[in-house]
Amino acid sequence: MTNDLRELGRQFQQAGLSERDAPAEPASLINTWLTQATDAGIYLANATVVATVDADGNPTSRTVLLKDVGGRGLVFYTNYESRKARDIAGDPRVACLLVWPGLSRQIRVNGLAARVSVEESDLYFASRERGAQIEAWASDQSTTIPDRETLEERFRHYERKFAQGRVPRPAHWGGYRVSLEAVEFWQGRPDRMHDRLLYEKSNGAWHVSRLAP
Ligand SMILES: Cc1cc2nc3c(=O)[nH]c(=O)nc-3n(C[C@H](O)[C@H](O)[C@H](O)COP(=O)(O)O)c2cc1C
Repeated sequence: MTNDLRELGRQFQQAGLSERDAPAEPASLINTWLTQATDAGIYLANATVVATVDADGNPTSRTVLLKDVGGRGLVFYTNYESRKARDIAGDPRVACLLVWPGLSRQIRVNGLAARVSVEESDLYFASRERGAQIEAWASDQSTTIPDRETLEERFRHYERKFAQGRVPRPAHWGGYRVSLEAVEFWQGRPDRMHDRLLYEKSNGAWHVSRLAP
């Protein structure tokens, strides 16, 4: 960690998170913290751990990259036939975790995952690098494959197939938006006297409460 990051973490610890500074809704504060983490030089500050459960109630989690954060929720992109997608199809309740240990900050989100519109997925897919677009065709995410060569052969196959023009978005690849149902902001403070503000939605309005550290 650079000294700058350490110093910024100390400043955040001193400043804390008070009800006074908490906005009326959580999305803007998520964006503020994301921006501050990015500006602090944290690489992939938008990395988020998403936890799902399968039909037997077994939890599992994995990292994804957030591509949009707004009042309607957190958006990430993935394969619609992956393990996470199967889990979400059976139970859309997910938990997301953003953590920046160097800044003494974490955000926990509970919400319901739903596919974004095809237009939104098309738009984002078109913005990806060509290699990532080809990979979306070549990889049946979360399935067992015999070896790496098989995957590379599939990559070459789709490279040849889409040699001319743009790569279309495969129907099995797109975004999910996780609605914001409960959001907790954790700001580390000296002496472990941390700040925890929990936003919960009831009857369409946000209610903020403070949790003991
Ligand atoms: C830093 C990082 C970012 C990642 N971003 C994504 C992502 O945006 N979308 C995605 O499908 N997988 C992403 N992955 C891979 C996932 O963690 C995971 O391996 C993959 O989605 C398969 O998960 P599943 O089998 O639970 O569906 C990322 C992994 C890391 C370490």
